[in-house]
Amino acid sequence: MRLIKEVSQMKIWSENARKNGVRIALVPTMGYFHEGHLALMRKAKTLANKVVVSIFVNPIQFGPQEDLKEYPRDLERDASLAQEVGVDVVFAPNAKDMYPQVYQTYVEVTELSKPLCGAKRPGHFKGVATVCLKLFNIVKPHLAVFGLKDYQQFLVVKRMIADLNLDVEIVGHPIVREKDGLAMSSRNIYLSPEERKSAVCLYKALCLAKEKVKKGLKDTNILQKELEEFILSHPYTKVDYIEFRDPEHLIEVREITEPTLLALAVFIGKARLIDNMIIEP
Ligand code: PAJ
Repeated sequence: MRLIKEVSQMKIWSENARKNGVRIALVPTMGYFHEGHLALMRKAKTLANKVVVSIFVNPIQFGPQEDLKEYPRDLERDASLAQEVGVDVVFAPNAKDMYPQVYQTYVEVTELSKPLCGAKRPGHFKGVATVCLKLFNIVKPHLAVFGLKDYQQFLVVKRMIADLNLDVEIVGHPIVREKDGLAMSSRNIYLSPEERKSAVCLYKALCLAKEKVKKGLKDTNILQKELEEFILSHPYTKVDYIEFRDPEHLIEVREITEPTLLALAVFIGKARLIDNMIIEP
């Protein structure tokens, strides 16, 4: 496995691979790998000849009050996990190379970036779309694998690819969970043992909603209130949002008559966790 830190070196590797007819898959990450990340890499391996994993804690997708500084990092451990999975290249650029002082260009997916995490984290998806476009231009992948845990991110990147006529196929991977249902996340490391116990309430709330809808409760206003009450009955919780949206355009849903995205963002202590599920009517 190769570890490449220079943007210029990554471009040369990709140009050569493309010249040799190699099909390249990219898995963009911010590192501190867990099984969710590794599952994306394994999926990528089945779809391409060479897999590149990028590790870059992208400063422009963090708000000024957010956890950019504390975000966990361990390149050595990540590189060895990637190697075990059979990744071909770990691309770990530094921030100065990606965003030199004179940097001033951004991409914005206007509508899909507005609700949910976009409303709570202004500028977040502009940062995500921009770094993904840069990574696509540097790595030149034929396809890129994204996790559906960040459902809105998946839609935003897919929209950007279509709108800007990029030749990158985007593949979504289901959410990978811990045994008790908590969605894996690099941010789970922020949880104390007591908070960790509470954190399962996100997944439990999703399952509760699924049950209630199955039993005939379709009014999302009522569902939203019941879920909020359920989540708040767990210690250390603060609800950021509980929303029902259509899974394609993220338009608000009042009554569940079609498959509907239920998206949650909840603070457990200082950790902001997200999760989602498509609820069938
Ligand atoms: P990061 O949070 O490191 O996630 C990298 C990829 O792993 C994303 O596609 C994310 O959806 C996926 N992922 C994370 N946890 C997962 C889980 N439990 N199950 C399935 N997939 C999971 O998302 C980012 O980084 C960044 O925003 C990035 C796209 C790299 C741009 O900076």
